[in-house]
Amino acid sequence: MYLLIDEKGRHYLIRGDDDFHTNYGVISSKELSKKKSGSVIETQTGHGYFVIEPSMLDFIKKSKRGPQAITLKDCGLIASYSGIGPGSRVLEAGTGSGILAMFLANIVSPGRLTTYEIREDFAQIAKGNFKKAGIKNIRLRMKDIYEGIDEKKLDVITLDLPEPWKVVEHARNSLKPGGYLVSYSPSIEQSKRFYNELDGFMSETVECIVRNWDMKVVRPHSRMIAHTAFITFARWLGKEGPQIE
Ligand SMILES: C[S@@+](CC[C@H](N)C(=O)[O-])C[C@H]1O[C@@H](n2cnc3c(N)ncnc32)[C@H](O)[C@@H]1O
Repeated sequence: MYLLIDEKGRHYLIRGDDDFHTNYGVISSKELSKKKSGSVIETQTGHGYFVIEPSMLDFIKKSKRGPQAITLKDCGLIASYSGIGPGSRVLEAGTGSGILAMFLANIVSPGRLTTYEIREDFAQIAKGNFKKAGIKNIRLRMKDIYEGIDEKKLDVITLDLPEPWKVVEHARNSLKPGGYLVSYSPSIEQSKRFYNELDGFMSETVECIVRNWDMKVVRPHSRMIAHTAFITFARWLGKEGPQIE
């Protein structure tokens, strides 16, 4: 795979199997295969494109979307507040387009992430995205997480589901003491109902607001993605753990 960037900063993620037709002429696949990351390739009309080896972030940004996908700001917060690192045992549900799964699988590598999904059409979209990105450490299971979790001794369970409170009891049986149950919910009513079920967990709920700045005029951009979701981080203290108010 190659990431091509044109003179206007537009990005194109291509396989390079065939010639690529642009607004400024054709890029030859044969010529592209000889290019190193960081070099420039020209179309037959002489327009230059930067050639970059794509990162996981490029694959995520160009992924096909099915249901509402999580934003990168929230992915980052989930990973940092739950301490996910290489080798962490992570389960996530539902898969959706697989955006959070890809982001977290990249971090747990060389470990493996498991993700549950109930809709075949969304699972197919996610599988296509994993394949395109060359990700091999995600196990996608067609499974309803409200019915239970097979995996044990998990470090983190992340949920992006309509009824996360239905997973709390299963999480008690599948998380290591000290592990995190993370729930991403657009509405505060969902978050409150989830919070009400968290006996034996120590929790905090946050939202992440990122404001971009236009550095030409040294002012914040007038448009921003403000609210996306409330994210609750609930740390399981174990069956013998203290009851914390
Ligand atoms: C908002 S999407 C998740 C998007 C995902 N976080 C991403 O970044 O692409 C919610 C997904 O949860 C799935 N889902 C809903 N209930 C489920 C359940 N009980 N078990 C597993 N998946 C479920 C839906 O089919 C849908 O694909």
